[in-house]
Amino acid sequence: MIRLSKSVVGKAEAEAVAHVIEDIGYLGMGATVGEFEHQLEQYIGGGRRAICVNSGTAALHLAVQAVTKPGDEVLVPSFTFVATYQAISAAGCKPVSCDIRPDTLTLDLEDAERRITPRTTAMMPVYYASNCCMVKDYQAFAAKHGLRLIEDAAHSFGCTYQGQKIGSMGDVVCFSFDGIKNITTGEGGAIFTADEEVIQKVSDARLLGVQKDSEKRYAGQRSWNFDVVEQGYRYHMSNIFAAIGQVQLSRFEEEFAPRRRYIAQRYCELLKDTPYVKLTSMDYEHDIVPHIFALQILGGKRPQLEQILKEHDIQYGIQYAPNHHLTFFHEDVELPVTDEVYSRIISLPMHPELSEDDIQLICKLINSL
Ligand SMILES: Cc1ncc(COP(=O)(O)O)c(C=O)c1O
Repeated sequence: MIRLSKSVVGKAEAEAVAHVIEDIGYLGMGATVGEFEHQLEQYIGGGRRAICVNSGTAALHLAVQAVTKPGDEVLVPSFTFVATYQAISAAGCKPVSCDIRPDTLTLDLEDAERRITPRTTAMMPVYYASNCCMVKDYQAFAAKHGLRLIEDAAHSFGCTYQGQKIGSMGDVVCFSFDGIKNITTGEGGAIFTADEEVIQKVSDARLLGVQKDSEKRYAGQRSWNFDVVEQGYRYHMSNIFAAIGQVQLSRFEEEFAPRRRYIAQRYCELLKDTPYVKLTSMDYEHDIVPHIFALQILGGKRPQLEQILKEHDIQYGIQYAPNHHLTFFHEDVELPVTDEVYSRIISLPMHPELSEDDIQLICKLINSL
């Protein structure tokens, strides 16, 4: 079987976990989380602080809660994983479904602009398939309309824009470290920001709202006499997750990123002349470290491809079911690009252990349609 995605973890991660269990002896949030956050801050740069939590969804939820109030509206592309929407509604806000651009498959700012109301206070663009080429456009749009900007960068860990890391230049930027992301901590996520108020709010809210508990946890202590002023959650990261993350971060630039970039470039080379394949143009050489590789199959041929991939035991993805069609988030809006892209999109296997033979077989099958 050729897998769609996969955790690439081994002996080094196992040893790091064993070190937490056997030597440190404390599995909850302690010094290892503090060290991992520090390493992430060094890696991402831009003077941003990193606040680690136990999922990307938790990161987004805390970010929304920190910069909005219940009842606010948040502009978001419908074409995203449901986690993006759940994070907005969990904070008591309304996700306002927007269309995507056909060339980038990310938030269409002209469409978003039409959906602004007096209750719109934030926007949450999503870097679908790691495509972060519009980061500056989002910043300009947010500034123009006085909105807070929360980047859902779950797919974009390690990506850059004009030489600067995603996460280093944003208002509030959220990553996911779930089992199959560009780096994994098993499950996990992080919020990057330079906003002192947001740093304090999300640091407290991840520890049940207990004020200023993070520093104590890093020192192996905790608060006994404390106050709570806001809704909090049990969203903090554990030392075990952070130990895995430290090893993954150390492997990322030399091992994972080049392999992911290479696989995307090979797919593009082998599929660029296929008339019924529409690729999204991205700079895999410099900027983009792809988390998924999604392409559009034109001419109604996607079901045929799905059948062939199933016959060859090759996993694929249909990412993602537009949120405005889901019962819980249903909105009666016309999002023509989203609907069209959803009918054509398919994700091909993408993980650092995919072999050249796998890539060639997959492309041969696509080209034989
Ligand atoms: C676009 C997007 N946003 C948010 C998330 C949520 O991340 P997590 O799975 O770590 O909660 C994901 C995860 O798959 C995602 O793909």
